[in-house]
Amino acid sequence: MEIGLIATAQLAKPEFCEEKTVAVIDVLRATSVIVTALANGAGKVFVTEGIPEARNLYTSFLPNAALLGGERAGNKIEGFDLGNSPLSYTTDVVRDKNIVLTTTNGTLAIRNSKTAKRLFAVSFLNVFYAAKILADANEPLLIVCSGTNGNFSLDDALCAGMLIDSISRFVPIQCDDLSQMALAFFRQGGSIQEKLSDCKHLKYLRSIGYEKDVEYCLQPNIFEVLPEYLPEGFLVLKP
Ligand code: MLT
Repeated sequence: MEIGLIATAQLAKPEFCEEKTVAVIDVLRATSVIVTALANGAGKVFVTEGIPEARNLYTSFLPNAALLGGERAGNKIEGFDLGNSPLSYTTDVVRDKNIVLTTTNGTLAIRNSKTAKRLFAVSFLNVFYAAKILADANEPLLIVCSGTNGNFSLDDALCAGMLIDSISRFVPIQCDDLSQMALAFFRQGGSIQEKLSDCKHLKYLRSIGYEKDVEYCLQPNIFEVLPEYLPEGFLVLKP
């Protein structure tokens, strides 16, 4: 399988994604939220870039049919039901609800990749399951790491490395330079926590009180689900 990697949401151009299967990764925290919400029974996750777009979409749903979630600078947006903490997307809260989500980088990465033939959301939480499905499809794969505010982010790169390593257990792979680097970083000794101990966005989230989110998002393989983005503008679980 040919595997390429893009380092930030902003670098994901429509022409790079066409004809490819794309896996968007935003470990801290958008794709961890999407995976958690859908695993916990949410119906659809709609992704928007802007706050006004999210509010407009939310008002198109019947009362109690949807929840408005997301962040700016890591914090819940005023008037929203939920922030971007995966731990708040519990079964009790999200079951059978649609989620309208806007985040700084993760939802942008998904929107920027939407010309893909197929588009999936991956985090540590579902990385091995995602690898099995992607290896089974065995089509050229582009991994879009969301990054943080236009900058490369180590958490996404490490998860990309784990995804590539897991895929390589099922099918032969040919990696571009950046995906080779992600794979080498993952295969280096040390735990996920050790390798990310100096990651800038991780330290930022800790500094604003989201230590528990960080711990949660760094757990590999707790869900056997794979969210897929459909052209209608939302993610659902791949059947
Ligand atoms: C984002 O999409 O920028 C992130 O998920 C930010 C965050 O950690 O909330």
